[in-house]
This record gives sequence, structure tokens and C-alpha cells, in this order.
Amino acid sequence: MKIPRLLLFVIIVAVVYGIFKAPGFFLKQPIPSSLILMYMFFVVITVLLWMTSTEEGMQGLVGPIKALIEDPGKKRLRNIVFVIVPLVAGFITYQQIKPSYEAPVELRSIHPAPPASIKVFNKTFSLQTLENPYRKLEKEDPAKFTQLVKEGGEVYFKNCFYCHGDKLNGRGHYAHGFNPLPLNFTDIGTIAQLQESFLFWRISTGGPGLPKEAAPWISSMPIWGNFLTEDDVWKVILFLYNYTGYVPRSWEK
Ligand code: HEC
Repeated sequence: MKIPRLLLFVIIVAVVYGIFKAPGFFLKQPIPSSLILMYMFFVVITVLLWMTSTEEGMQGLVGPIKALIEDPGKKRLRNIVFVIVPLVAGFITYQQIKPSYEAPVELRSIHPAPPASIKVFNKTFSLQTLENPYRKLEKEDPAKFTQLVKEGGEVYFKNCFYCHGDKLNGRGHYAHGFNPLPLNFTDIGTIAQLQESFLFWRISTGGPGLPKEAAPWISSMPIWGNFLTEDDVWKVILFLYNYTGYVPRSWEK
């Protein structure tokens, strides 16, 4: 019995695919699917070249497909094929792009190591030695210090409370729209553990200033260096510590 050419083509391709899949199935050592895709590409091309090398072979391969599309007697079969093929293609595509709501496997570092230096406000700051220029006034000129804290509070309630909340607890009106959530400054795990220079870095360069470890979620924290002055940033930092009652970390004297 002579096997129809088109069927033969399908059988050969299926058998070869089976052979490539076999190591994964029997030995649990699968060939990577990208590699299988490449092998199958060459297999299909080779089989097609061989089968279409004669006029008779060409007819055998193309004939049934032509008949399916053109033969009035095959209308029902044609309709069925034209429904099934797009459905299968759609299903396969959907499997590839199906949205997933699972968290990415990578872990996100909330307080990544800061860079050695940053460039903001048209200056370069070395974070290792950077200090809040106003911190010393806390002892030297308490009245002036209180005034600066108050000004920092104004910066905060003009710019930050939408996200970080009016009680600094990270529950601003917009907070729930963001992942990662805006941080809660009253939590002992945030600013209480940090130096003022770290906050200066985070506030002035925002989410885009974070290194790769802080990915894959993208922080909505704005780049305040574009909207505030250097002074505003130092003052809002005074406010954050003053309001929460925490003391910034510093190098041991
Ligand atoms: C659009 C919302 C939004 C606004 C407005 C916003 N932040 Fe943030 N902020 C975030 C998010 C989200 C995070 C947490 C992700 C991250 O670390 O970048 C964050 C993190 C921070 C951190 C890092 C704290 C830590 O423990 O590492 C500081 C400091 C900070 N914000 C200060 C401010 C200040 C000061 C303002 C106002 C000048 C402000 N933020 C305004 C969204 C916002």
C-alpha cells in the first residue's frame, strides 16, 4: 500500500519530534525546547526538499491541501478545519503569553547597598562622608532647629503624604495602587536603621536611583532631585526623624 504523501510527511515529522523528546521523557534529561525548535526547523525543510524534488511528490503533497480548499464537495471538512486550526493556534499562543499573578522568584532587597557617590543637584556627593548640615543645630541652636523641622514638615505635606501617609505610616491615599508599597517610616525597620546620607540618596534619586537588587518590582518613589532643592531634602529628613522619634544611625564617634 502506498501511503499518501501528506500523511507520510506528517508521520515523519511526528516521529522525529518524538525522537528528540525521548531523552526528556525516558531519561529525564530533556533537550532544551529552543534547540528542539531549531532541529525541527531543519528536519521540516529537509523533508520538504526531499518530497518536492519530483513533480509527482509535489502533487502528492500539495494536492490534498488544494483539494480541501477548492473542492466544492469538501465544504463541510473545510469548515471544520478552518475552525479547528485557528482555535489550536490561539490556544498554543495563549499558553505562551498567559498572564501570571505569581510574584517573581527573585527576592527584592528593600535596603540595597547605596552607591559610593551620587550625582544630584549638579554636584557629586560622597555618601560615605555626607552628613546632614543641619543636624548639629539640634544642640547648637534648638530654636533654629525647630524652625527647620517645621519647614521640613511643610515639604512633607506638600509632596510626600499622598504616598507615605499623613502619619508617616505608609498609608497615603495613593499607597494601595503601588507595588512595592510606600515605606512606613514609623516601622522600626526603615529610617530607624538608616543614616541620613542613605535617605538623602533615596529621596533625591527615588525609585530610578535604585540598583538592580531592588528590582524586579519597580518603585514609584519619585526622583525628588528634580522637584525639590538640596535644602528641602535635608529639612524633610529632619522632619521624618523628628516626627517618628527615631535617631538616625551614625558612625561611632
Ligand atoms: C508616588 C508615591 C511616593 C511619593 C509621593 C513619595 N514616595 Fe517615598 N517611597 C515610595 C515608595 C513606593 C517607596 C518604597 C520603594 C522604594 O524603596 O523605592 C518609597 C521609599 C522611600 C524612602 C526609602 C525608605 C527606606 O527605608 O529605604 C524614603 C526615605 C522616602 N520614600 C522618602 C520620601 C519623601 C521624603 C517623599 C517626599 C519628598 C516621598 N518619599 C514621596 C513612594 C513615594
